[in-house]
Amino acid sequence: MTTTNDLFEEDLDLPDSTAQHRYAALVGLDHIKDRLMKEAELILQPKLLEDWSVRSHGTVLPALRWVAARPPLIIFAGDVGTGKTTLAETFADAIARRHGIDVRVKRLSLRARGSGAVGEMTRLIGTAFDVVLREARAAGPRQPFVLVIDEADALAQSREAAQMHHEDRAGVNALIRGISQIAVEQLGILVVMCTNRADALDPALRRRAAAEFDFARPNDAQRAAVFATIFDGIGLTASQIAELVALTGPTERGYGHTYSDLVDRILAAACLAAYPDRPLTAGLITEQIRANPPTRPFAERG
Ligand SMILES: Nc1ncnc2c1ncn2[C@@H]1O[C@H](COP(=O)(O)OP(=O)(O)OP(=O)(O)O)[C@@H](O)[C@H]1O
Ligand SMILES: [Mg+2]
Repeated sequence: MTTTNDLFEEDLDLPDSTAQHRYAALVGLDHIKDRLMKEAELILQPKLLEDWSVRSHGTVLPALRWVAARPPLIIFAGDVGTGKTTLAETFADAIARRHGIDVRVKRLSLRARGSGAVGEMTRLIGTAFDVVLREARAAGPRQPFVLVIDEADALAQSREAAQMHHEDRAGVNALIRGISQIAVEQLGILVVMCTNRADALDPALRRRAAAEFDFARPNDAQRAAVFATIFDGIGLTASQIAELVALTGPTERGYGHTYSDLVDRILAAACLAAYPDRPLTAGLITEQIRANPPTRPFAERG
């Protein structure tokens, strides 16, 4: 049976240099990072919006009540290996640094789904939110929290799905209750849900989200930026990079390499192929690209 101790992965306390590096290493997500920063900052530090209102209007505008009443939920949706988990776990590092505050990231474990015993998932999710609420109340407004619910479709499947068990529906209700409770208490807790399939998430949850961000595989320019970054220092020419970009794009397969294919697989494979007595070259990287085809998109899996 799942106990309270098993409900979370290890906390991440930010700022933290590892988080800073993981965040900075994300390529091609600047458009998401920019908007996410604003959304997240105002949920984690509601006072910033009040300060702006007073600066610009000489008073706290009534409009702020509606902004503040939005459920503190952000959804990251999209293809495999595109940086959802990494961004969810690290973006608050930038906020912590900018405002000189501590932010604690709590990550709900997949074990919170329980073993399927009647009422168990509801109880576990309810307990998880209780734990976060209790910690946030004790910490006060200077220490906001991010609650990351990864692989959220496992917990928050559409209640409309015909095959869904009663138990799963109750779990979704427990999630909605928890998020509402956070909004009511205005505790500076932001819930981030990551999923490969936004359309499998419960519509009632999606409707409540303050923002939903879509993550996709890297396009040509983004793959060029990845290659320039990860193979910095080996002297690749512009035309060699262009060849690597063409090799990793959507060919007759219809889909190209993911960020994680490039950063985690091809980079490592190329280094290991060169080690111990050869330099890294465009030729070696090309061999490894051919040997490591792109991960299939989530939607195409059987
Ligand atoms: N935008 C990116 N820029 C650079 N590297 C990336 C990017 N996205 C992912 N990666 C690399 O891929 C690895 C996996 O990323 P991550 O786990 O965040 O992806 P994900 O979207 O959560 O994937 P999944 O849907 O499979 O859970 C990271 O460790 C990182 O090295
Ligand atoms: Mg992930």
